[in-house]
Amino acid sequence: MNLTILKIGGSVITDKFSEVPKVNLENLKRISKEISAWNRDEGLIVVHGVGSYGHVIVKRTGIDKGISTKGQLGDFAETQRLQNELNCIVTKHLIDEGVPAFPFQASASAIMNSGKLVKMCATTAGRLVRIGMVPVPYGVPAYDENQKCSILSGDEIAPYLAVKLKARRIIHATNVDGIFTSDPNKNSDAKLIREINSGNIHQVRDWLTGSTATDVTGGMYKKVSELLGIGIESQIVNALIPGNVTKALRGEAVLGTIIRA
Ligand SMILES: Nc1ncnc2c1ncn2[C@@H]1O[C@H](COP(=O)(O)OP(=O)(O)O)[C@@H](O)[C@H]1O
Ligand SMILES: [Mg+2]
Repeated sequence: MNLTILKIGGSVITDKFSEVPKVNLENLKRISKEISAWNRDEGLIVVHGVGSYGHVIVKRTGIDKGISTKGQLGDFAETQRLQNELNCIVTKHLIDEGVPAFPFQASASAIMNSGKLVKMCATTAGRLVRIGMVPVPYGVPAYDENQKCSILSGDEIAPYLAVKLKARRIIHATNVDGIFTSDPNKNSDAKLIREINSGNIHQVRDWLTGSTATDVTGGMYKKVSELLGIGIESQIVNALIPGNVTKALRGEAVLGTIIRA
């Protein structure tokens, strides 16, 4: 299937430094317009991160490390409900812009093991894409067969669906220009890596750390690790720069990092 998987970071559509769940409406509206501006003639899945809707409550309740008290069952439930709330807001803005966005709760079928996705249903997403719909999965707390609950991030959903549905490419729209030699938010002399391929792949893991904001799913390190070795071209672009998402979707040149390894 000619399919693009676009992941929008929680750092883009929420205020990731907020201690309470907070949408970045300005960014969400602009990104929705940018997705709509792509006159697509192929399939699209939009995965979104959760930013301040997820990472704060998960850090406070510890459910990413599993469930050991009855109270944490309530935390598991409330965390899922909060992500549904964000997904409702995201899909509403996409629909307002004419994108047939379809809420897609990955945790309704996902099985995790010690924080790693074992399987989830991709068939329905694929069929929805085939009829022209745009499934919108998002980061969620999910059933874990070892620790009862762990976090299934958008960064893990995107490559999983890409492999299962044989997507053409993955685009990560985040809050930095791409992968740098170190965290650009901490080191002003960090250099942008334009391409990751078999020649420099062994260096990549040394360059990456987590996130400057609260990110229980491993920030940039985890994001990129999931993309290495799946055999699907991936691109990391800065969604804070207006126009970048449309350009990337159209296959036009955008400053960023391309992963071909
Ligand atoms: N080598 C690196 N190159 C780029 N970003 C990095 C690197 N190491 C750490 N980061 C951090 O990763 C962050 C992006 O990850 P994250 O906050 O999880 O974004 P998202 O919300 O898009 O998932 C950047 O804001 C940056 O601070
Ligand atoms: Mg992240």
